[in-house]
Amino acid sequence: MSEVEEFEKSLDAAKSLFVRGISKHVTAEQIVSHFSAAGSINEWCYHPTNRGIIYVTYGDEIDAQNAVRRLHQSELLGVTISVRPLNYNKNIKNNKSMIERDSIITRNIIKKQNKTKGEHVAYANHGMLINGDLYPIPQGRYLLQLLKLSLSCDFHVKSLLSQLIFTKSNNNDNNKEISESYACFNGMLKAGNYLGINWSDETVQVNVYVLGDGVQPFTSILLAALLPTHYRIYSIDPLLKYSKEQLGEDNVLAKRINMYPCLSEEFEIPVDDNMGISVLIACHSHAPLQQFWDRVRTKKIAISMPCCGKDISLLSMSPTLEYEDYEVWSPKRKIYIYSSL
Ligand SMILES: C[S@@+](CC[C@H](N)C(=O)[O-])C[C@H]1O[C@@H](n2cnc3c(N)ncnc32)[C@H](O)[C@@H]1O
Repeated sequence: MSEVEEFEKSLDAAKSLFVRGISKHVTAEQIVSHFSAAGSINEWCYHPTNRGIIYVTYGDEIDAQNAVRRLHQSELLGVTISVRPLNYNKNIKNNKSMIERDSIITRNIIKKQNKTKGEHVAYANHGMLINGDLYPIPQGRYLLQLLKLSLSCDFHVKSLLSQLIFTKSNNNDNNKEISESYACFNGMLKAGNYLGINWSDETVQVNVYVLGDGVQPFTSILLAALLPTHYRIYSIDPLLKYSKEQLGEDNVLAKRINMYPCLSEEFEIPVDDNMGISVLIACHSHAPLQQFWDRVRTKKIAISMPCCGKDISLLSMSPTLEYEDYEVWSPKRKIYIYSSL
């Protein structure tokens, strides 16, 4: 057993956390103050060989779990830190599922002020290695998926996708938006795998509500191209300015996109939707997710990728899954999946 393994074994695993991303400039007082925000700390110490890592032990398990929820991806002296249960990485290594693997690498933002001379930087296949830590770089997987989809022979799919590619948002190319919308679709797939939902089961009616979809119903359009034809899709945003004609009136896939230029609070959830599953998508949305969630009477899941107004896109319950999607070309790429199932 190595020195580090021996040391970790001496800690109380249920109450101890493994924290990466500690800047050399952080003082002991700052560490105590940061972690005390989640509960009372018994002790903390540096990793035996790496000063960028610390162990924090709380007085009880609840505080330790609370700290993971509140402080993972928080900033300490300008650096985003990773706060994980002590045996988190070991558990993940034993469980090779896709869902879990996406969460392994948690430190994502490199702040310039943290770059000091002497750091070792190298390129790896999928990212940059800085002092041995891997910082993933998007690989463009979603664009490749979009390309594959656009090569399909289906005219309706092609016509929908052309709107994502050729209709520009904010005078920019839509790479970033496409990656964000795809990440939400991917979140749906992950939720399905994790919760045992077969999304292509035609006997289950699925209603997808895209809250804060934007001026163009971007995520709804992508979902219409990707999801089974019996799904109903609702695009809800007060700024929505898109016409049925733009969607393509004859497009059988687009026909099930229902556009509502209103606040999500004002949206009346259809009464005949008391069966099946409702999926709430909040892709960098500013709509109050909890308010909508509480009004949905069916079984439901929510896929949320918050941006600036983070709190408005989170639910009060704990997420079933949370992970960073490194294929999203935005630093706001953390996905939260909630479920009532
Ligand atoms: C940052 S934009 C995101 C747009 C799009 N989802 C995207 O990723 O490009 C946030 C959107 O939330 C919308 N929004 C704000 N409050 C809302 C509400 N109460 N209900 C529905 N949409 C809302 C805004 O109009 C805006 O289009």
